[in-house]
Amino acid sequence: MPAQIIDGKKLATQLQGEIATEVSRLSSSKGIVPGLVAVLVGNNEASKVYVRNKELACKKAGFLAEQHHLPETTSETELLQLIDQLNRDAKVHGILVQLPLPKHIDEQKILRSIDPKKDVDGFHPVNMGNLLIGQPSMVPCTPLGIMRMIESIGYRLEGKEAIVVGRSNIVGKPIALLLMQQNATVTIAHSKTANLPEKIGRADVVVAALGRPEVIRGEWIKPGALVIDVGINRLPDGKLKGDVDFTGASQRAAYITPVPGGVGPMTITMLLWNTLQAAKL
Ligand code: GUN
Repeated sequence: MPAQIIDGKKLATQLQGEIATEVSRLSSSKGIVPGLVAVLVGNNEASKVYVRNKELACKKAGFLAEQHHLPETTSETELLQLIDQLNRDAKVHGILVQLPLPKHIDEQKILRSIDPKKDVDGFHPVNMGNLLIGQPSMVPCTPLGIMRMIESIGYRLEGKEAIVVGRSNIVGKPIALLLMQQNATVTIAHSKTANLPEKIGRADVVVAALGRPEVIRGEWIKPGALVIDVGINRLPDGKLKGDVDFTGASQRAAYITPVPGGVGPMTITMLLWNTLQAAKL
């Protein structure tokens, strides 16, 4: 039987509706309107699209949303000054610096300069550290969105074998921690992992976050597995492909997320969610 497709777009629309309702309640009861500022440096085309989509989703949900688009030549000092100003602005509850930054700017230094309470991406070392030790923190949006998708199908992670393919700070490491918190047994694989097909073949849950189109083949997937595809790879013909061979994998998996329309819309939704939480604090 082909896999059940987890419709991220539909779930995202539903959650964004719930967030919008809460925003209008917060605004009428306390006079607080959640505010998000996105900072984009340079002209990375994909980043421009992502930031624009984030801004639009925020506005649609009734947030105050603003984008600072700075030139490629912006210095680290100038960027630090802008973040300092946003840290002090009471109307700004969330600050997002779109990655990657130009090479002459120290990414970690910039992320560390954001007030952890306004760090709606959850990339500040304080938030990352709190996530590691299981304390309340801002959780990065993509992993948070994945957990909401898993919840939405009523899937129980306890005792399951999960494999995360990719070890980035943005997705791989935090999703591994969240799966472990739910009592899954987690393997983190990456570009240097030996015998990847065999390891994937043992997994009840596969999270693919490598950023290379369709490298995870359908025939590697364990029958009945849950497959989460985080990849957003644009091919030369303009088509979007995930990291998983969807056609093959959906013949074996019990549940699978599509690309597009899977994890992507949930990432944006969790950014709204984190900003709403920051505004409530
Ligand atoms: N670049 C790729 N993904 C992300 C994300 O979730 N947040 C930010 N700020 N930059 C990114």
